[in-house]
Amino acid sequence: MAEAQARQRGGYAGEISVPAESAVRYEVDGEIATITLDRPEKRNAQTFATWSALARIGESLPGQVRVVVVKGEGPSFSAGIDLRMFTPEGVPGQGSFSSAATSDGTAFEQRIRQAQAGFLWLRRPEIVSIAAVRGHAIGAGFQLALSCDLRIVADDVSFCMKEPALGLVPDLTGTKPLVELVGLAKAIDICLTARTVRADEAMRIGLAEQVVAGDDLDRAVRDKVAQLLSVNRDAAVATKRLLQGARGRSLEEQSVAEGQEQEARIRALFG
Ligand code: CAA
Repeated sequence: MAEAQARQRGGYAGEISVPAESAVRYEVDGEIATITLDRPEKRNAQTFATWSALARIGESLPGQVRVVVVKGEGPSFSAGIDLRMFTPEGVPGQGSFSSAATSDGTAFEQRIRQAQAGFLWLRRPEIVSIAAVRGHAIGAGFQLALSCDLRIVADDVSFCMKEPALGLVPDLTGTKPLVELVGLAKAIDICLTARTVRADEAMRIGLAEQVVAGDDLDRAVRDKVAQLLSVNRDAAVATKRLLQGARGRSLEEQSVAEGQEQEARIRALFG
């Protein structure tokens, strides 16, 4: 019964069932995992349950998975946090930020860390994550897209970091990738005006790797997945590790790191 419910509204793959209240669908097909926010009637608004489902998927992702696709059902990728979380009543069974406001600092910090855990794992070197974004990606939705390695977007995409307009800061791990992708000045412009960034600009400033017509989004993502799977798995992991570390290292340090990774590769291939 629980499994049937998970299949209906949550997801189920092998040992992992995602609770139905998270409205997250999760499927694993060989080396590809697909996570779908599945509450289109509420534009895939996110709750604590969404974030704990994402974290749980990250914790139990099968080792064979190389590519993770994150998408939203319906016309919008995600309209961000479920606004009921800012009301005293909150989301049934999940509480609200108004009640969290009076909790002690440690409990509050822990809650935020738990939510962030749902986003952070998408950067692991062992996988490449792709956000397939159509329509609105607002607040937590924008940050979920930013937590992925790549963003392939439909031409109707609209990114908006709405948090400052609501008196909040973006705290779901999105600020660092945003600054790294578009630079500090553009990130300030985007966040502190809470303006909408559409497809053309997203492509121009490096927020999106590819813009396609809405009908072509699934195909474009499938093609990218196939390209990613066409290279050697261990080389891909080692190269992603190198690229991720590059910003924090000097040229000299990065050259040393390249040499070390290559030594391990050559020993594995020819040793
Ligand atoms: N929370 C809860 N419900 C939401 C929602 C949200 N974030 N976004 C949309 N919905 C609901 C609407 O209330 C509506 O429900 P009903 O049919 O029951 O009335 C349904 O989804 C469809 O919404 P719309 O009719 O508004 O759909 P639309 O396509 O015309 O517009 C939209 C879509 C532009 C995303 C608009 O719904 C909207 O502006 N939503 C709010 C966006 C928002 O402010 N999000 C918070 C961002 S900040 C954040 O995320 C904070 C953080 O990380 C800490």
